[in-house]
Amino acid sequence: MSGFGIYVHWPFCAAKCPYCDFNSHVRERYDETRWAAAIARELAAVADLQGVARPEVGSVFFGGGTPSLMSGKAVGCVLDAVARLWPVAPDVEVTLEANPNSAEQGRFRDYRTAGVNRLSIGVQSLREESLRALGRLHGVGEAKQAIQLAQATFPRVSFDLIYARPGQTAEAWQNELEEALEFETEHLSLYQLTIEPGTAYATLARQGKLQVPDENAAAELYELTQLICERAGLPAYEVSNHSRPGAASRHNLTYWKYYDYAGVGPGAHGRLTISERRLATYSERLPEKWLESVEQRGSAFEIVEVARLDAAHEHLLMSVRLSEGVDLEAYRMRWRLSPARDRIAKLQQLGLLEVHADHLKATPRGRLVLNSIIAELADFAETPAVAVP
Ligand SMILES: C[S@@+](CC[C@H](N)C(=O)[O-])C[C@H]1O[C@@H](n2cnc3c(N)ncnc32)[C@H](O)[C@@H]1O
Ligand code: SF4
Repeated sequence: MSGFGIYVHWPFCAAKCPYCDFNSHVRERYDETRWAAAIARELAAVADLQGVARPEVGSVFFGGGTPSLMSGKAVGCVLDAVARLWPVAPDVEVTLEANPNSAEQGRFRDYRTAGVNRLSIGVQSLREESLRALGRLHGVGEAKQAIQLAQATFPRVSFDLIYARPGQTAEAWQNELEEALEFETEHLSLYQLTIEPGTAYATLARQGKLQVPDENAAAELYELTQLICERAGLPAYEVSNHSRPGAASRHNLTYWKYYDYAGVGPGAHGRLTISERRLATYSERLPEKWLESVEQRGSAFEIVEVARLDAAHEHLLMSVRLSEGVDLEAYRMRWRLSPARDRIAKLQQLGLLEVHADHLKATPRGRLVLNSIIAELADFAETPAVAVP
């Protein structure tokens, strides 16, 4: 097994976007040096768990929150800690999520110097009025500038857009997406707007003040997205992620292929295989509590053993998101289990799943209702997968 990845969660944001339910917090001030040191300490706690059999790091991902609020020095401190604790692959992928405001652009060069080689920019929209409605602090000009500066600074660049926004027509999305593709980045993350419970958008939606496209309209936008991106040479390799061949995010593939990853920082989680046991780590979500805990006892995560059957389920639920699907032979080898045949047969009959060349994957129709497929597949704890003798 390969592909050990490290996720670092930086929980701070300049403002809270009304649609976002990520573990992100607005704070007037915090001691960045202290925070970077605490991240390094929690990394050391993960390495201690792994003991002497430490895997080679294939990817590091700074996510958030807004990691582009970090200085290059803080990013460098965290990367130095990684290099002290683990062997690092010569072609390691180091991604940082950046918001496209001009202040963050001023730090791009420092990130590159610190070792970041892939920037993922949260553009969200290329339309001024939509950026305002999404509560973003940047404008279209800043976003375009950020993409161009990133392309001049980093070998690999991706950006995020949110579609199926209130009032967005298929024609408007097509124009915006085609404009986005003109930047010719190797990777794009294209997310349908979801109304997450507890967000300001959820309140507005409940009050009837925010109307997102209905299921049919959203499905139409999704299909249009696939068509346009495929035509442009950026097919989806996962539900919301598109890339040129070979330019998929190595770090994200670690999750979807259910390899090992460490997760440090408030609210991060990890999955580690230690002495053939699958362990999950869950870190404290609240930044101040997290910091206190790490400083007092070296980490802020709890460790839970994942039973083999649960781990096999998790693997299935993650991998079914991939366009290539689940490699059934590798799955059987890894878990000595096969996915529940009756569930899969039912979904096959409905035309939502297919098995092709020993890979289980969602059909184009299935991708439109992937969450329901995942729920159906997840709901078989009492009807276990068939054990392979
Ligand atoms: C960790 S978040 C944000 C990273 C960065 N702070 C930013 O805002 O650009 C990663 C991505 O998730 C997407 N996202 C967050 N909330 C979403 C929602 N409710 N619906 C769809 N996409 C969402 C956005 O595209 C965002 O860039
Ligand atoms: S979308 Fe990004 S900037 Fe906005 S609150 Fe969420 S993490 Fe912070």
